[in-house]
Amino acid sequence: MVKSDIQNIKLRFGIIGNTEGLNRAIDIAMQVAPTDLSVLVTGESGVGKESFPQIIHQFSRRKHGPYIAVNCGAIPEGTIDSELFGHEKGAFTGAISDRNGYFAEANGGTIFLDEVGELPLSTQARLLRVLESGEYIKVGSSKVQKTDVRIVAATNVNFADAIAEGRFREDLYYRLNTVPIKVPPLRERPDDIALLFRKFAADFAEKYRMPSIQLNEQAKRMLVEYPWPGNIRQLKNITEQISIIETNRDITPEILSTYLPDMGNSSRLPAFVGGKGAHSGNKSFESEREILYQVLFDMRRDVTELKKLVHEIMTEREAAGHHVAHPVDSGSHFLQTPTVDVISDVPMVMPQQYPQVSQIQPVNKVSSITPVSNVSVKHTDSDYQDTEVYVEENLSLDDVEKEMIKKALERHNGKRKNAANDLKISERTLYRKIKEYGLE
Ligand SMILES: Nc1ncnc2c1ncn2[C@@H]1O[C@H](COP(=O)(O)OP(=O)(O)OP(=O)(O)O)[C@@H](O)[C@H]1O
Ligand SMILES: [Mg+2]
Repeated sequence: MVKSDIQNIKLRFGIIGNTEGLNRAIDIAMQVAPTDLSVLVTGESGVGKESFPQIIHQFSRRKHGPYIAVNCGAIPEGTIDSELFGHEKGAFTGAISDRNGYFAEANGGTIFLDEVGELPLSTQARLLRVLESGEYIKVGSSKVQKTDVRIVAATNVNFADAIAEGRFREDLYYRLNTVPIKVPPLRERPDDIALLFRKFAADFAEKYRMPSIQLNEQAKRMLVEYPWPGNIRQLKNITEQISIIETNRDITPEILSTYLPDMGNSSRLPAFVGGKGAHSGNKSFESEREILYQVLFDMRRDVTELKKLVHEIMTEREAAGHHVAHPVDSGSHFLQTPTVDVISDVPMVMPQQYPQVSQIQPVNKVSSITPVSNVSVKHTDSDYQDTEVYVEENLSLDDVEKEMIKKALERHNGKRKNAANDLKISERTLYRKIKEYGLE
């Protein structure tokens, strides 16, 4: 394919980079698009696999037909057959009417099966049949249905292992992998790293209406030498974190290293890799970040509530004549008011509803939920020595909180009541925070 065609595709699909491996992957996508062959896009998490099924669809004869992206890893095993192939009324409890699945909806178009390696074996058998004959059967039915769907699948798992361990059917793998497209990891594209950084920095500068962050020469070198386990998603994420948090826009290696995990420093915010909704698309990064902000926000609220509770318990016990080791006794500014942003060894409840964010390192190390009656309010010397660390972490959490509030207000067109509901805080607290952060 001519070089200028590849450049045009990159422009159209927002793909940055110019390394051989990337160009080759785009070239294959273009060549295979007009055929109906199945394509398997492979590559580590965050390398940018999601653009490829879109390119293939847009350059195929199906481009006016439907394009459906399904994240196979996000659908529970119990419902995936019904989601993909539909069900008949009465097929199972709750099946109150007939339902078409994605394979019926995508008739005449393309279906993108993201994280295809996560499909349960029973679903793999159904998928193999569609690939071989275009036929499928709705759950609870015996009638064979036909569909005309082009399948593009993606995975970041190693199929050789999955096949060897009996988790993935070998025959299905060969069917899906008629044409393989391999998207290279970022560490094999060193020349693209600075390009991507500059683009993301400019985008976030515009989004947050701030001057763009700039790297000095040594910081640039550090960026290129970093192995990027989370690939482009991680680079984008970190560029956004730095853009939001750092007031000094000139980024030195010292600052940069605090954002790169395993550089001898822990990242201020975790690099978030993986996990998204059932329908993945270009917005997946956005929603991951939102979830991350929400988790941090929730954690912060939980901690504040716990601190209040501890303070109340202490006050009650003191009133009842018990002596508690009160921090004020030792001259520290710990817990002088119920809202002081310092955390002791009080256990914190991790929000259960976000199981996919287990990589987050909580602000405070907490692993279990201890009944409140067992909460110890004794403070050791090391607690006091930790104060500075917490103050620093709280500064960046302030930024996150401010960002969360801004986003919630935007989402609800400035309606404070709805934004407060969304954030699960009272309107009064929201009002106070808006004032505090100057968000009026
Ligand atoms: N070449 C690129 N230029 C600009 N942005 C990119 C590029 N590649 C990826 N991105 C961005 O990086 C993020 C991750 O890409 P994508 O969601 O396609 O990853 P993925 O390979 O599907 O990862 P996973 O296996 O975890 O699903 C997205 O926000 C995407 O827009
Ligand atoms: Mg993906």
